[in-house]
Amino acid sequence: MTIANEDLINAATEAREQAYSDYSGYSVGAAIVDDQGRLHVGCNVENAAYPLGSCAEAGAIAAMVQEGGKRIVRIAVAGGRGKIAPCTPCGGCRQRIHEFADSNTVIIVFDDSEEWQEYSIADLLPASFHLD
Ligand code: THU
Repeated sequence: MTIANEDLINAATEAREQAYSDYSGYSVGAAIVDDQGRLHVGCNVENAAYPLGSCAEAGAIAAMVQEGGKRIVRIAVAGGRGKIAPCTPCGGCRQRIHEFADSNTVIIVFDDSEEWQEYSIADLLPASFHLD
C-alpha cells in the first residue's frame, strides 16, 4: 500500500517534534518513502559545537540506508514550526538527496500552513556534481 502525501507530511511533522534544536530554535522533520514503499524519518540534531549539528534530511537518509532502502521515491521536509516559510533543503542536503534520487523523486516542502510545494532534484540542484 502506498503512503499518501498527507500521511508522509504528517510523519515529517511528527518527526519534527523530536528535533533537538536548542541553539537555533528551528525544528525540522523529514520523512522518506523508499523504493520498497517504506517510511523513514529524521529530525535535526544540534550541538554546542555548532558545525556538528545535523539536518533532518541527513537523519532520515541515514535511517533509510540502515534499513536497506536504496532510493528516495518521495521525501517531505517539515520546517520552521510557527514560521511562515517552508524549509527547502539546504545546499548540503540537496546533494545528500541527489545521491539517492532520480528524475521521478518528489521533494515536498511545507510549513504550518495547509499547503505544500513539490520539487524535483533537478529543480533544487541543477548542474549537480556526480562521479559517474
Ligand atoms: N536544517 C535542517 O534540518 N534541514 C535543512 O535543510 C535546513 C536546516 C536545520 C539545521 C539547523 O539545526 C536548523 O535547521 C537551523 O539551520
